[in-house]
Amino acid sequence: MQVRLQKLLADAGVASRRASEKLISEGRVLVNGQPVTQLGTKVDPETDRVEVGGRVVRPMEERVCVIVNKPRGYVSTVKDPEGRRTVMELIGHMGVRLYPVGRLDMDTEGLLLLTNDGELTNALLHPRHEVPKTYVAEVDGLPTPETLSRLRRGIRLEDGPTSPAEVKVLKSTERGSTLSITIHEGRNRQVRRMLEAVGHPVSFLKRVRFGPLDLHGLKLGQHRFLNMAEVARLRAAAGGARAPRAMRRRSPDAGTAAPCASAQTSPPRSNQAGLTRSGSKRVTRRGK
Ligand code: URA
Repeated sequence: MQVRLQKLLADAGVASRRASEKLISEGRVLVNGQPVTQLGTKVDPETDRVEVGGRVVRPMEERVCVIVNKPRGYVSTVKDPEGRRTVMELIGHMGVRLYPVGRLDMDTEGLLLLTNDGELTNALLHPRHEVPKTYVAEVDGLPTPETLSRLRRGIRLEDGPTSPAEVKVLKSTERGSTLSITIHEGRNRQVRRMLEAVGHPVSFLKRVRFGPLDLHGLKLGQHRFLNMAEVARLRAAAGGARAPRAMRRRSPDAGTAAPCASAQTSPPRSNQAGLTRSGSKRVTRRGK
């Protein structure tokens, strides 16, 4: 698909549309090695090589955010050197390279986000933003009020003290208890280690909330795109992480269902399927 050169430059975040026109008029933009000064020249971002100031301009990739209800038995990595099943198998081919936002242990179920928005990922994982994550944990025994207070105050683990957690007992039987625990950090196996440290090993763990998002309507193994409003809430929870440039410039109303920024940038052709899925909010089930 051909696009106007100034649009390509603006969408790629090189400069505003007007400043891009100036760059073109000044002969500072090369297409396939030749300066192009004619405004309105069309290029194909997939086959033409566009350079400004010696740098190749790549069209901004569509920003996509996917929520998955991860079953046990999947590792939260793109590729596993040991050949175990990865969460990527749950979502299938999306036409863009997605990465998990943090991790869930192989044995932990629940809410996992995947995105190609590095800035959003960093903001969500940055300890300063303390994005709350809520887990349901089945543990041995019934924690005493004193144990619950210790967890709430923070306990000492081998990699340092934990920050205060919110802990509730949801259910308790002779065999064990079900707890809700909300933490604001994301250390390796943190919930399991916290509960183990206070004498209540975890037999089942599921993340049910990540910041403003929960698993509502998503069965185990299913995934769906986040809509614009959900992404906006995530950004707010992550200290107001900036939307990609193209997204900020042409943000439609926040209620529209769409991938992170798909409504703003021309998606790569291979992403069209993803757009359709997002718009219809269809959920898909795989890997089971
Ligand atoms: N805490 C854990 O113990 N495991 C996870 O996967 C996430 C948090």
